[in-house]
Amino acid sequence: MSEITITIDDRQISAREGDILLWAALDNGVYIPHLCAHREEEHPSASCRLCFVEMQGRPMPVPACTVKVADGMVVSTRSERVDALVAAGFELIMSNHRLDCKNCAANGSCELQRIAKERKLRLKPKNLPALERDLPVDSSAAGILYDPGKCVLCGHCVLACRSSGRGILGFTRRGYERIVTTFGDAPLGESGCDSCGACAGACPVGAFSTRKAR
Ligand code: FES
Repeated sequence: MSEITITIDDRQISAREGDILLWAALDNGVYIPHLCAHREEEHPSASCRLCFVEMQGRPMPVPACTVKVADGMVVSTRSERVDALVAAGFELIMSNHRLDCKNCAANGSCELQRIAKERKLRLKPKNLPALERDLPVDSSAAGILYDPGKCVLCGHCVLACRSSGRGILGFTRRGYERIVTTFGDAPLGESGCDSCGACAGACPVGAFSTRKAR
């Protein structure tokens, strides 16, 4: 693939033709909020709706994880429309996230904290009511804790579990009921999970975390 030049926020950066805009930006130190994109996946779900950017020639903001770069492309990561879309998407996610930073293993490295800081957004939803889902913490595995109330459905754990060769985690149900769980909704400790830690290493928000094996 040939080397090309694109402009992001008035800065020229080099990328390879056909690279995904989100990764090209991040690899060049330009931050764009993101949760659901995976470098390994060719067809992104674009479900978190946080990576919006403006592109010259496009009438509406587009998710950067769905765009392949081309020579001469001109992109802005901020605009009134982008900021409004990101703020709305973030608030929606946070209305469905058990907020407990002080006691969370991801405190300080959480992607939600980073997005809030970068875009000056509140972690606690201002306009939407916090949706309380009755999802108990799964502490049945020897070395892993899973709090589905913190899960943002980004799918990083599912991919990591699959890549580790285990394939224990997956999505189930639809809409508001959608969760990451094991086959048959079995507790982790009865699912064949051996606490390898791949899910905890991949989770950007502390829904999966490691603990000392009992
Ligand atoms: Fe692009 Fe989630 S990272 S929509």
